[in-house]
Formats: sequence, C-alpha cells, structure tokens
Amino acid sequence: MVIIEKMTTKHLADVITLSVVEEQKQFVGTIDDILKNANAQIRPHVIFAEEQMVGFFLIDTNYSKTHDFASQSHSIGLRSFFISKEHQGKGYAKQAILALPTYLREAYANYSQIYLTVNCQNPIAKALYLKGGFEDTNSLYHGGAAGPQHIMVKALV
Ligand SMILES: CC(C)(COP(=O)(O)OP(=O)(O)OC[C@H]1O[C@@H](n2cnc3c(N)ncnc32)[C@H](O)[C@@H]1OP(=O)(O)O)[C@@H](O)C(=O)NCCC(=O)NCCS
Repeated sequence: MVIIEKMTTKHLADVITLSVVEEQKQFVGTIDDILKNANAQIRPHVIFAEEQMVGFFLIDTNYSKTHDFASQSHSIGLRSFFISKEHQGKGYAKQAILALPTYLREAYANYSQIYLTVNCQNPIAKALYLKGGFEDTNSLYHGGAAGPQHIMVKALV
C-alpha cells in the first residue's frame, strides 16, 4: 500500500536522492530542477511504500492561471509525477494514481477536477493515467520543452 504525504523539511534528505533513469529525464527532469518550481501554490508531495520514500509529485493550485486549457478556477494540476528508478516496476505508480483522488478530495477539497499533461513519447505514463481514471481530452499541449503532450483530466467529485 502506498501513502501520500505533503513534503516537509523532514523529507528533504530523502527527496534529494530520488531520480529517474537518464532517458526518462526528458519527461520530469531532475529533482533539483523540480524543487525549484515548488512554492506556496505548487506543493510538493512524497509517496511512501513499505516505509520507504519511492516517489514524488507536485500539486499545482495555480494551474488554471498558467494553463489555458484548464481555465476553470476549480481545476488543479498534477505535475512532475515520478517513481524513483530503483522502485519502478513494482506497482507503486499505479497504486499512487489510484489513491490520489481520495487524498485530493480531503487535502484539496475546493477543487473539482485535476489536469495533467503527458508527453506523446511517454506511452507507459499515459497508459498509467488512463488506468487511474484520467481521460484523454484529445487535445495537445505544446508548452513543454520535450515536444507535444496529451492533455488529460479527471473529475474529483
Ligand atoms: C511512469 C512511471 C511513473 C511508472 O512507475 P512504476 O511504479 O514503474 O509503474 P507501475 O509499476 O505502477 O506500473 C504501472 C503500469 O505500467 C507498466 N509499466 C511500468 N513500467 C513499464 C515499462 N518500463 N515498460 C512497460 N510497461 C511498464 C506496468 O506493467 C503497469 O501496467 P499494468 O497496470 O498493466 O500492470 C515511472 O516509469 C516513472 O517515474 N517514469 C519517469 C517519469 C515519468 O515519465 N513521469 C510521468 C510524467 S507525465
């Protein structure tokens, strides 16, 4: 079972050890770069499994202001979701994506839908999000550095 927690300073030493393999860096970058995006509106989260930190993501409460396709103010964004390389392939991403709506309904109760973008060259992640109940909007986002991305959305109500 995975547990999702808001990241605090007590997590920092473990968070900075999280990383993906070289060919996945185009999709999320390094943890140092990701942490530079975190602030009061873009909140870092950690994923635990079997009492170990295994993954990370950002919840962006400013997403509707920075992404035209999510312009409804009750939209939130999932960004920089990853499982650290040594913990991949164990089902943790799927468990985390399935656990996310319950977590968000409590921790971010004012938001009724969550958006994400996933690179068109990242079919494993796209399939993961589909299994987690996200829908492909069949629109592409061209704002990323690594090419076009599918825009996906999931209702939280
Ligand atoms: C995508 C990612 C989060 C998946 O994490 P994970 O913990 O390894 O995934 P899981 O073990 O939960 O597997 C989820 C599904 O993906 C499949 N999968 C995972 N890695 C795979 C691989 N390398 N090749 C083929 N299928 C794979 C699993 O078989 C599983 O499918 P199933 O539900 O049909 O059994 C992880 O590879 C990652 O962090 N990638 C780099 C960052 C990234 O791309 N993030 C997405 C940004 S939008």
